[in-house]
Amino acid sequence: MNRNRIQVMHGVNLDQIGRRDPAHYGGITFRQLEQAIDGFARELGLDTRFFQSNSEGDFVEHLHRVRDVADAVVINAGAWSHYSRAIGDALQLAGLPAVEVHLSDVKAREPWRHVSVLTDSCFATVSGKGVDGYQEALRALKAELTE
Ligand code: DQA
Repeated sequence: MNRNRIQVMHGVNLDQIGRRDPAHYGGITFRQLEQAIDGFARELGLDTRFFQSNSEGDFVEHLHRVRDVADAVVINAGAWSHYSRAIGDALQLAGLPAVEVHLSDVKAREPWRHVSVLTDSCFATVSGKGVDGYQEALRALKAELTE
C-alpha cells in the first residue's frame, strides 16, 4: 500500500497567524498557510489532511485517532510545543513518523521558546524558515515513508 497520507496539525493560536507579528509569522493568513502546504504536498505526491484546535484536549484526542487516518504527521503545536507534556505523550503514542515545524526561529526568540517538549517524539525539527519550512518537513517525511 502506498503510504502518502500526511496529517498536518496546528495548535493554539495558529489559526490567528494573519493577525500576529508579521516579523515572526510573515503576515500570511492561516488559510493561505494551509493552501501553500497543500500545494507543496501535491508536488510531492502526498495527500494532506488538516487539523487545527485551540483546545488542548481536542488536539490530544485527534492524536489518539491519527493512526487511523494518516501515515505521518507534520506538527506545529504553537506555544504548547514549549510545555505540553500531554501533547508530547500523545504524539509518542501515535507512533507515526513526525516532523515538528515552527514558522519563526524559536531559538532566536525568548528563552522559554528555546525548549520543545515535542522534539523527542519527532525525527526532525524545522524552525525559522516560514512557510518553506513545511516543504522541508514534507520532503523529509516523503523520504521516511518511501525508505
Ligand atoms: C510557533 C512558535 C511558538 O513559540 C509560538 O508560541 C507559536 C508559533 C511558530 O510557528 O513559530 O504560536 O510555533
